[in-house]
Amino acid sequence: MQTRTSAYEFTDKAAGYRHLAADLQALLAGEHDLIANAANSAALLFAALPEVNWAGFYFLRNGALVVGPFQGKPACVRIPLGKGVCGTAAAERRSVLVADVHAFPGHIACDAASRSELVVPLLAKAGLSDAGVLGVLDLDSPLPGRFDATDQAGCEVIAAVLMRHLSADQLPQADRVACSVLNCRAAPRAL
Ligand code: SME
Repeated sequence: MQTRTSAYEFTDKAAGYRHLAADLQALLAGEHDLIANAANSAALLFAALPEVNWAGFYFLRNGALVVGPFQGKPACVRIPLGKGVCGTAAAERRSVLVADVHAFPGHIACDAASRSELVVPLLAKAGLSDAGVLGVLDLDSPLPGRFDATDQAGCEVIAAVLMRHLSADQLPQADRVACSVLNCRAAPRAL
């Protein structure tokens, strides 16, 4: 795996994620463009997190997930909602932590080197049962069991920081369900 130097110390993982979230907040401050903010978020995560070979986003477009800004090897472009780890996290609006991708039924292998995975949904309003899903944040690792509950909690905060820096007009038309939470004019749509 490619070695990258990181300014972040993850021996205390929770502290590492607090540092990362604060830096992401500063990086995104004043900007509301979805592509710009997702691109910088992916770059920051990939540079900071050890033993990660893919970090990036899939966005919901007309009922399927389509790859967005990421760092790592080229990836599968479209993932049907409910399929793979990403489609499961988006459909069920919950984070999915997979210690061994070979043991996850329906796992979609974009990079044969990936052995564990963490996918966090991008919720328009985290914590609400009717939160709209904009897409997912996906992290892959070549190490089995790379991600744990602290990574999950840390990445859920990262996803919330990104969502706070998007204005409603940045949401794609296909994500009208998210608009129902953000009080856009578009009607809500069932997933
Ligand atoms: N493994 C994912 C597909 C996306 S890649 O890992 C970048 C999945 O099963 O949904």
